[in-house]
Amino acid sequence: MGSLWGSILLLSGAVLLRAEGYAAQETKNNVPRLKLSYKEMLESNNLVTFEGLANSSSYHTFLLDEEKGRLVVGAKDHIFSFNLINISRDYAQIPWPASPTRRDECKWAGKDLSRECSNFVKVLQPFNQTHLYVCGTGAFHPVCSYLEVGKKTEDSVFRLEPHIENGRGKSPYDPKLLTASMLIDGELYAGTSADFMGRDFAIFRTLGKHHPIRTEQHDSRWLNDPRFVGVYPIPESDNPEDDKIYLFFKENAIDGEHAGKATHARIGQLCKNDLGGHRSLVNKWTTFLKARLICSVPGSNGIDTHFDELQDVFLMGTKDPKSPIIYAVFTTSSNIFKGSAVCMYSMTDIRRVFLGPYAHRDGPNYQWVPFQGRVPYPRPGTCPSKTFGGFDTTKDLPDEVVTFARSHPAMFNPVYPINNRPIIVKTDVDYQFTQIVVDKVEAEDGLYDVMFIGTDMGTILKVVSIPRGSWHDLEEVLLEEMTVFREPTAITAMELSTKQQQLYLGSDIGVSQMPLHRCEVYGKACAECCLARDPYCAWDGTECSRYFPMAKRRTRRQDIRNGDPLTQCSDLQHHDELSGQTTLLDKTVYGVENSSTFLECSPKSQRALTYWQYQRSADDRKLEIKSDDRLIRTDQGLLIRTLNKKDSGIYLCQAVEHGFMQTLVKVTLEVIDTERLEDLLHRDKETAASVSAQERSTLQESPNQRLWYRDFLSLVNHPTLNSVDEFCEQVWKRERKHKKQKAHLVQQVQIQHHQQQQQQQKVVVNPHPHMHAQGLAAKWKHLQERQKGRNRRTHELERAPRSV
Ligand SMILES: *[C@@H]1O[C@H](CO)[C@@H](O)[C@H](O)[C@H]1NC(C)=O
Ligand SMILES: *[C@@H]1O[C@H](CO)[C@@H](O)[C@H](O)[C@H]1NC(C)=O
Ligand SMILES: *[C@@H]1O[C@H](CO)[C@@H](O)[C@H](O)[C@H]1NC(C)=O
Ligand SMILES: *[C@@H]1O[C@H](CO)[C@@H](O)[C@H](O)[C@H]1NC(C)=O
Repeated sequence: MGSLWGSILLLSGAVLLRAEGYAAQETKNNVPRLKLSYKEMLESNNLVTFEGLANSSSYHTFLLDEEKGRLVVGAKDHIFSFNLINISRDYAQIPWPASPTRRDECKWAGKDLSRECSNFVKVLQPFNQTHLYVCGTGAFHPVCSYLEVGKKTEDSVFRLEPHIENGRGKSPYDPKLLTASMLIDGELYAGTSADFMGRDFAIFRTLGKHHPIRTEQHDSRWLNDPRFVGVYPIPESDNPEDDKIYLFFKENAIDGEHAGKATHARIGQLCKNDLGGHRSLVNKWTTFLKARLICSVPGSNGIDTHFDELQDVFLMGTKDPKSPIIYAVFTTSSNIFKGSAVCMYSMTDIRRVFLGPYAHRDGPNYQWVPFQGRVPYPRPGTCPSKTFGGFDTTKDLPDEVVTFARSHPAMFNPVYPINNRPIIVKTDVDYQFTQIVVDKVEAEDGLYDVMFIGTDMGTILKVVSIPRGSWHDLEEVLLEEMTVFREPTAITAMELSTKQQQLYLGSDIGVSQMPLHRCEVYGKACAECCLARDPYCAWDGTECSRYFPMAKRRTRRQDIRNGDPLTQCSDLQHHDELSGQTTLLDKTVYGVENSSTFLECSPKSQRALTYWQYQRSADDRKLEIKSDDRLIRTDQGLLIRTLNKKDSGIYLCQAVEHGFMQTLVKVTLEVIDTERLEDLLHRDKETAASVSAQERSTLQESPNQRLWYRDFLSLVNHPTLNSVDEFCEQVWKRERKHKKQKAHLVQQVQIQHHQQQQQQQKVVVNPHPHMHAQGLAAKWKHLQERQKGRNRRTHELERAPRSV
């Protein structure tokens, strides 16, 4: 035992102990440190909401314009422009419904008038300095137009041009279909469906000076019922001729590729300067290639669990514009096994796969194999440019190249994530991931990627990935879980403004806005700020506040990598004292022999583990309490069933997080033996029963103990607990007036407020017949204790045990 206790570290207010190798603490890493409800978010002023219009919905298409300070949102029959500072302050809206004729036609075609025959805005892209390009489903008749937004913020223009263009190949017909688009250099790249039935899926390039171009029609080798997630341009070299467009989508696996109907996540590539073939693949892409994106974890039975339902993609820029890091969110296809994962991909790995073998099979009944034959030159997928020489445009490509490209659009090898595994996996929860944005944050000890992950339940997870030793060993710290919509709804759009330090969220029911950081919620002490490991926040000498890398450094305390308050805060005890370091709750609880008692202790951080120590008296050695039939440890505290006289003593509740221990609660338990209690109850019951109400009032001058018990009986008979509080208050005042001696009979101090009481009722097994009465008496007793100001601060020195 002696070896478990080590060197002494003195900190004021809280006891911080290094508990290295504290085995069980790893188990809580997947729990958010802080969880905030919708109400808490609103009340703490950390959420601004736009509750939506009664005649609109589907706030899914976002365009962030940081320069003009606006967020433009496309929804059902409307386009909105929000102020980035506060979305509820001065927003503008333009109604853009489908014409009555179109709505009628849509209805006659058998579509649902209210849910489908409206204009759902699906494309919102910057067109030129003054205009955006917008497209909507137009009640199953896609339309596009130009939205004037002005050159500068001051212009405050927000006007839709009356001129309407055909939106085919730009917006889908069906609002339910997942499509993606991006306008690059005056040309719109869109992955969408181009027919009423929703069968002709393709990747289109429209607008601009060139003839529209698309993927091969009705060829399942190219695209097989794709659902598009994102389109991004990524340069391939320093020569713009090599620029490529990447598309992220999921599609049905091609027959034979997988048993049964399976979904595969895909990355597709195209050359920006592709003009189609000359004799074949005319006005079709000649440089389209696709590869499978793998995100899986090994299963216990040797079969990998695949996350194939790609939901969202975020490109995190690096110093090299050619090599962004790709963050992708996936869920599982299985109805039985619900899970979500985030995987990270590197452009190096992606390019290697596109330069690897093509997938090939000799016929529909053959296996897919890597193509072993001679690949024609220039290699299909290469952009026409001076970098590789030989040809200027795809129209000059040799026939054999075009023919090969047409029959070999897929790569044989899949793209594996960085480190070959997801960086986050969540399987034990009732929600799934839907969206992701990532922010690069500069902290005292380096740059960190902070992920904001949206879920299908209207919540946001804030996660930071911290390198443990190297890039290959990342630790995910789930900082917060926040509810940002008033009811559970899938988050379908997400934009992050670095300039405003705000996050904007879209769903079916509205738009919400929240800050990226709320350092003050972590607590008022240096240690708490440090343990939070939020790269946005640092202890500034007075409070936990936003960390600015440029600010003066001396007083800054932050340690994201290790979250070590000992090195960061041990010299700051004076400050901690001043700023209200977490006070140790120190109280006395009375229990009655053979009854149960509950010692409450729940740390603010959900990631902290608690454990209890017992001490017979202040000088005795502390022993750790292990759960058994009689002693039950719960997340809220310690339940002791069938109290024994020898349970009397001191109980210490310790919170351990990230290797550091803090004493949260110190309870002195006194167990009163049954005989003494019975004696008291018996005697006073007789007295109470034998006197009438009138007589009772004359009992004012009777012995102290009796008067007290009369009050006690009144409490017992009281129907509502809320008024009991007031009653206790009165009793206590009168008690004090009469300078009563200490009360004799009590127990169950824990009923401090309603919530705790509920908890108690939930956990107490076999309640003692006097439980109710005792509980009320305890309430009274507790009030008395509190009035005496017994919440003292205790200074303690010790070291935590190494193992539980
Ligand atoms: C945003 O604006 C609304 C309406 O003017 C106001 O009530 C709210 O307090 C503002 N919120 C913030 C965080 O500024
Ligand atoms: C929806 O209602 C708003 C008023 O809340 C109105 O300004 C707008 O014109 C309506 N939109 C349509 C498409 O009717
Ligand atoms: C932007 O495009 C719109 C629509 O074609 C056009 O009316 C407007 O003049 C253009 N603005 C500039 C600055 O080129
Ligand atoms: C308390 O429990 C002990 C052991 O079960 C029993 O012997 C004793 O009679 C009980 N006392 C009362 C008052 O119930």
